[in-house]
Amino acid sequence: MAALAIRNVSVFYPVPGKPSVHALENINLEIHDKDFVVALGASGCGKSTLLNLIAGFMAPSEGEISLDGRVVTGPGADRSVVFQKHALLPWLNVLDNVAFGLKIQGHDRGKREKIARAFIKLLGLEQFEHSATYELSGGMQQRVGIARALTSDPAILLMDEPLGALDALTRERAQELILKVWRDTGKMVFFITHSVEEALFMGTKLIVMSPRPGRISHVFDLPFSRLYFETDNAREIKASAEFIAIREKILQIIFTDEAGTDDE
Ligand SMILES: Nc1ncnc2c1ncn2[C@@H]1O[C@H](COP(=O)(O)OP(=O)(O)O)[C@@H](O)[C@H]1O
Ligand SMILES: [Mg+2]
Repeated sequence: MAALAIRNVSVFYPVPGKPSVHALENINLEIHDKDFVVALGASGCGKSTLLNLIAGFMAPSEGEISLDGRVVTGPGADRSVVFQKHALLPWLNVLDNVAFGLKIQGHDRGKREKIARAFIKLLGLEQFEHSATYELSGGMQQRVGIARALTSDPAILLMDEPLGALDALTRERAQELILKVWRDTGKMVFFITHSVEEALFMGTKLIVMSPRPGRISHVFDLPFSRLYFETDNAREIKASAEFIAIREKILQIIFTDEAGTDDE
């Protein structure tokens, strides 16, 4: 069973001529098989820093991160990142964008197109295989980015506010699609958002972070994504009494955190 373990992790960013920025303080978190972990919190509370540590883009100042018992020391195909600003290659069509990582890994055309097509289908992009990515809407470009991230068969998908640039309706559709992709692929997910509603709807586990220094202030187990699979009705879930009650509770926590810190 796949598991990511974050143990006693702290990060200090050196700042020339000034005290270092204490971005994360003693973070402990385990992500298990089939977990969809959502990180929520005010700007500057260390969400992206935590994701970059898991991705292996940077090393913790203290503590350790491991995936399936192996310490993370750099980026790897077992951890795929989807950014808010998709990093698609404009001179390649959808199929070649999705297959790009496989090409770099040295797979022949037949194999990489077979794998790429499976994820293109999963993300509902079959009609657009040969389209240029700049012809697609923002929501569809993001789907191309997710399909590409899946081709390396990672143990965990890391998403840093992937839906933040989308309009409200597209964003709701994308939330539902990502949940179905998560269910159908069985990947672990670490997902960052600013939206309380999105966090509650999507996560199986919610970590609420607070700033200065960044730390996990609350952890909640959530039932809503699983309820969604039973009813296929996202709006009904988001409008339910249970959902609204916890949404207000989380908003209260975040506003209290905000009030307790100085403005930047
Ligand atoms: N390269 C860096 N150098 C110095 N400080 C940084 C750097 N990157 C991030 N920070 C600081 O670390 C804190 C956490 O940043 P970040 O992880 O980007 O938070 P979030 O994603 O939650 O907004 C912030 O105070 C930010 O200003
Ligand atoms: Mg961030």
